[in-house]
Amino acid sequence: MRHVFVLAALGALASSSGVVAQEISIARGELISITSGCHDCHTAGYNESGGKIDPEAALRGVPLGWQGPWGTTYAVNLRDEIKEMDEEAFVKYAKTFIAKPPMPFYNMHAMPESDLRSLYRYIKSLGAPGDPMPEALPPGETPRTPYIVMAPPIMPQ
Ligand code: HEC
Repeated sequence: MRHVFVLAALGALASSSGVVAQEISIARGELISITSGCHDCHTAGYNESGGKIDPEAALRGVPLGWQGPWGTTYAVNLRDEIKEMDEEAFVKYAKTFIAKPPMPFYNMHAMPESDLRSLYRYIKSLGAPGDPMPEALPPGETPRTPYIVMAPPIMPQ
């Protein structure tokens, strides 16, 4: 009888991907946001400071354009992006949304649900949403902000 309970408990811990479920907490959400690279693109000053998270700027987006064949995109203000979503809506959204480069949306699809819940709680804990970043531009439009051109190098003949 005891074995049955142990097996049932183990089954409940394993997610559909076979990864053992983790605790759901703001602290884990912060860790995921760091190790999954969210601050690299969505937090101003993060890379320049060697990985310090300015609590004011954390995940509020960066007004630096990323330009390529898709047009020009901006790493959005994540606090603003999720301000109308409850946790359930965020989990559904994070599992299905598609975004333009260089957003690695497929990495979010692969996150266990418990990690998405932790991430949501961390973003919510950061405080006032602040202002949205500039709108993405279609190909051919010149940005009014600084931008990085992501294009193959022109090789010497
Ligand atoms: C290499 C840079 C980069 C990394 C790393 C990155 N993002 Fe993004 N993210 C972007 C850019 C650029 C956009 C805007 C894409 C667009 O306009 O389609 C974006 C858009 C988004 C969006 C909004 C999509 C929409 O509906 O408009 C969400 C949500 C998001 N990122 C969450 C995250 C999270 C969470 C992480 C960490 C797991 C992360 N991003 C890591 C650059 C990045």
